[in-house]
Amino acid sequence: MCGIVGAVQTHGNVVPAVLAGLKTLEYRGYDSAGLAVMTPHGIQVRRKSGKLSALEAELAQNGVPPSSQALAHTRWATHGAPTDRNAHPHCDDRGEVVVVHNGIIENYAELHGMLAAQGHAFSSETDTEVLAHLIAHFHRNGDDLHSATRKAMALAHGAYAVVVISAREPGTMVAARLESPVVIGVGEHGRYVASGIPALLNLTRDFLVLENGESARLTPTGHEIYDARGQRVERAPFRCEWTPEQAEKGGYAHFMLKEIEEQPDVLARTAFDRLRDPEGDVAFEDEFGLDDAALRGFRRLRFMAMGTSFHAALLGQMLLAELARLPGETLNASEFLYSARLPEEDSLTVIVSQSGETADSLRAMREVQARGGRTLGICNVRGSTLAREARHLVLTHCGPEVGVASTKAFFGQVAALYMLAVRVGRARGTLSREQGQARLLDLRKLRPMLDPLFESDAKQAVEAAADLLVPVRSCLYLGRGLQLPVALEGALKLKEISYIHAEGYPAGEMKHGPIALIDPSFPVVAIATPGRSYDKMISNIQEVKARQGRVIAVAARGDRKVAALADAVLPVPEVAELLAPLANVIPLQQLAYTVALRLGRDIDQPRNLAKSVTVE
Ligand code: AGP
Repeated sequence: MCGIVGAVQTHGNVVPAVLAGLKTLEYRGYDSAGLAVMTPHGIQVRRKSGKLSALEAELAQNGVPPSSQALAHTRWATHGAPTDRNAHPHCDDRGEVVVVHNGIIENYAELHGMLAAQGHAFSSETDTEVLAHLIAHFHRNGDDLHSATRKAMALAHGAYAVVVISAREPGTMVAARLESPVVIGVGEHGRYVASGIPALLNLTRDFLVLENGESARLTPTGHEIYDARGQRVERAPFRCEWTPEQAEKGGYAHFMLKEIEEQPDVLARTAFDRLRDPEGDVAFEDEFGLDDAALRGFRRLRFMAMGTSFHAALLGQMLLAELARLPGETLNASEFLYSARLPEEDSLTVIVSQSGETADSLRAMREVQARGGRTLGICNVRGSTLAREARHLVLTHCGPEVGVASTKAFFGQVAALYMLAVRVGRARGTLSREQGQARLLDLRKLRPMLDPLFESDAKQAVEAAADLLVPVRSCLYLGRGLQLPVALEGALKLKEISYIHAEGYPAGEMKHGPIALIDPSFPVVAIATPGRSYDKMISNIQEVKARQGRVIAVAARGDRKVAALADAVLPVPEVAELLAPLANVIPLQQLAYTVALRLGRDIDQPRNLAKSVTVE
């Protein structure tokens, strides 16, 4: 998954803004970067393997001409190793057509062969370079840049967001989209294009989104959108309320730390203006589109997501069962495609995704819809594919999440799913008005109870717990019931940013295998907070200690029983049991962050990862 930023203006030097915009997208992929600048003598292309900082250093050292038209890209390699010559932008062999691309061209070998046979000479191992040659082929034979791009993309199979400029058409920028996101920025003196809104917030707040199969011709003072059939479409821009500061680090060492500490505020942004306390109910926006009768009509709920969102989905299933008495199942979206084709009429499928661009989740959503099922998206990005294609929608309003390791988005997803459970419970009559009021009060009381998690003694506890994990190569996270998804999420956080192997496991399973691993070099993180699973978790901790294992326990502040048993304690406030996952996940996020920091890992951009996996 890559980052794209392009700009074309009536005047002024756009190069600094394009590079600054690219920086906000670096989390999407960061193994090489490049810039193309329109000059009076043609297009100048600069590319560098490594992070954007390597390209910036090269530009500073050798200079870069100012221009009112520029295009930049940061890459997460699919075809071709991350080298200078495989970095985007890519050109045709005359250097006239310049392309950046996010996605995969699945038939690039066939296109490569066809073009090579026509005499095109290639200089990289990428699928993207084939596009530059293919567009140039049509462009040289009389098509303008937009028409040439459409003809070329009609021959390409796969997923793409492409942006193209041409030395033969200075002042024009063309974008085309199939699956991979493309946003268009509308400014007073220019038009902009990017893979994500944060990249353009310093240039404009007005955006429109290309739909699948659409293309756009952009000039400094205008934009034309064409649908999959090549028909012109009119689309009004929407205003994005995010501020550039929200997309910046705000003084924190890492986006991930900023986003962990934003979580109490996320509760307010996601929940508080949706609570209808007197009715003991929740009111989602019109895009939710499910009234009481519809909510009573479902016999089965299915949740689908990937990664961290999968863990939130697991909690959603449990919360809907608890508050709405609705049975459900939760699937890795990637697995749904291999499941039996069953009737979908009486089911509602909830797709949970921060980015709204995860290919596995989108494919599963479309499969459900193809089978006649209804879909509800729980998503953080307005204008994302999920937000536009799901039949029903709840936005989490967490603000942009930039750290690759998802934290506040998980928090917002669980809060939204808790509210969904209240809404469905009230619609189905399994929650009385008074019970609904009590559940909403629990949510309102939660926010101030989280504050101690960010105070110095809590941070000292995290540092002490980190001492037990930094030296090891593998560990186990245990939880039961509502705390099992938290254990899974804590383990994912640790492994994805510290590179220490961590496995989340149902605590009840420990005796059925993993206990064979217990020794002083294989610590266990156990979530032992008050509730139905507490006593059994105490037993699990005792079983680990009896085998010289070491235990980090998440426990209620002041719990002396756990403190007497565990080697380290991460204290949490004692909150309503259904909301305990929101409190318990925070020290596990902080623990992963602290361990990764100690190990000198690249916390916001961990190796091999990308913020949103837009390929299957
Ligand atoms: C979370 O820390 C990971 N970066 C990853 O598992 C992520 O949750 C997953 O790729 C799903 O992304 P989405 O929520 O944008 O669909």
